[in-house]
Amino acid sequence: MSLRSVTTPDEIIELFQERGHSEYGGEDVTQLQHALLAAHLAEQSNASAELIVAALLHDFGHLLHELPDDAPDNGIDDFHEDAGEKALAKIFPAAVTEPIMLHVQAKRFLCTTEKSYFAKLSEASITSLNLQGGTMSEEELTKFKSYPYWRDALRLRIWDDLAKDPEQKTPALAHYLGYLEEASL
Ligand SMILES: [Fe+2]
Repeated sequence: MSLRSVTTPDEIIELFQERGHSEYGGEDVTQLQHALLAAHLAEQSNASAELIVAALLHDFGHLLHELPDDAPDNGIDDFHEDAGEKALAKIFPAAVTEPIMLHVQAKRFLCTTEKSYFAKLSEASITSLNLQGGTMSEEELTKFKSYPYWRDALRLRIWDDLAKDPEQKTPALAHYLGYLEEASL
């Protein structure tokens, strides 16, 4: 599978403009709306520039490949968290890329440790959870907590889950360019 690559914050913005209008897997928002909603929640929570950028770019890996939007429904995991982390590591430090890499594992972590969390997952999110390995074993929980930014990954996950309301207003993409530049290496 060939992947697009990006090397600057401006190229990130361009790729969102070019490909961000695709559906966010089974939800009522586009990839771009979902990214803006997650970043807005992070900013409202007084998160660091790095974590706001991680929220904006957590699903960036979906924009890098050519798989269809409904790939999870067809039993295909695109491993977008790994693709995103790898592509963005050329531009950003671990404070940005590690929560991105861990945001799928964070869902598995929260499903394992918080009953109320699992109860709130959307249909599409349960479908992808099963593809991503379901709940975590003791070893997997311990490994997850060995990452320096695991707590940030959990915060990011909560914003990710809330970032699905098409009626919610957010600042435009250009608003986040300053954070992209501030957080870059
Ligand atoms: Fe997401």
